[in-house]
Amino acid sequence: MDRTFVAIKPDGVKRGLIGNIIRRIEHKGYKIVALKMLQPTLEIAEKHYAEHKGKPFYQSLINYITSGPIVAMVVEGKNVIEGMRHMMGSTVPNDAQVGTIRADFAQTKEFNTIHGSDCCESAHREIAIYFKPEELCENWKTMMEYVWENMPEEV
Ligand code: RTP
Ligand code: MG
Repeated sequence: MDRTFVAIKPDGVKRGLIGNIIRRIEHKGYKIVALKMLQPTLEIAEKHYAEHKGKPFYQSLINYITSGPIVAMVVEGKNVIEGMRHMMGSTVPNDAQVGTIRADFAQTKEFNTIHGSDCCESAHREIAIYFKPEELCENWKTMMEYVWENMPEEV
């Protein structure tokens, strides 16, 4: 099953949006297999956003992501990388579709509330930055998995 790395950014945590965002992820039927709150160090932030080093917004992005705690998650589901990016909405909140997290909760691209990996390779890289393998909870089932198991193979 596909996995992605998701983080509720410091503005989302400070504004009390943890529960709302996690509820959306759970209601979609995705499985949260790891979750923790942490204060990103400079080292972690620089690793996470290494692809943006040298860009004009890089330093403000690092300042932002280290400005308070984040909630880091590993989320599992069918095509979850694409699905989470769809739930998050576009980087610029005013370009995001109404109903997405960024459209509903954010005003600027600088403080856009949530992160999600943009491809499989990024997901692997980012999960390894934030979680040790033993921190992932593997051997349990969500209700959604029981539902899928009882679906006919062909509909
Ligand atoms: P993220 O990596 O955080 O999920 O966001 P994203 O893929 O939608 O956007 P990306 O291009 O990877 O940019 C990473 C984060 O940097 C901040 N940003 N600021 N001031 C700017 O022009 C600017 N551009 C990007 C945003 O916080 C963005 O989410
Ligand atoms: Mg990105």
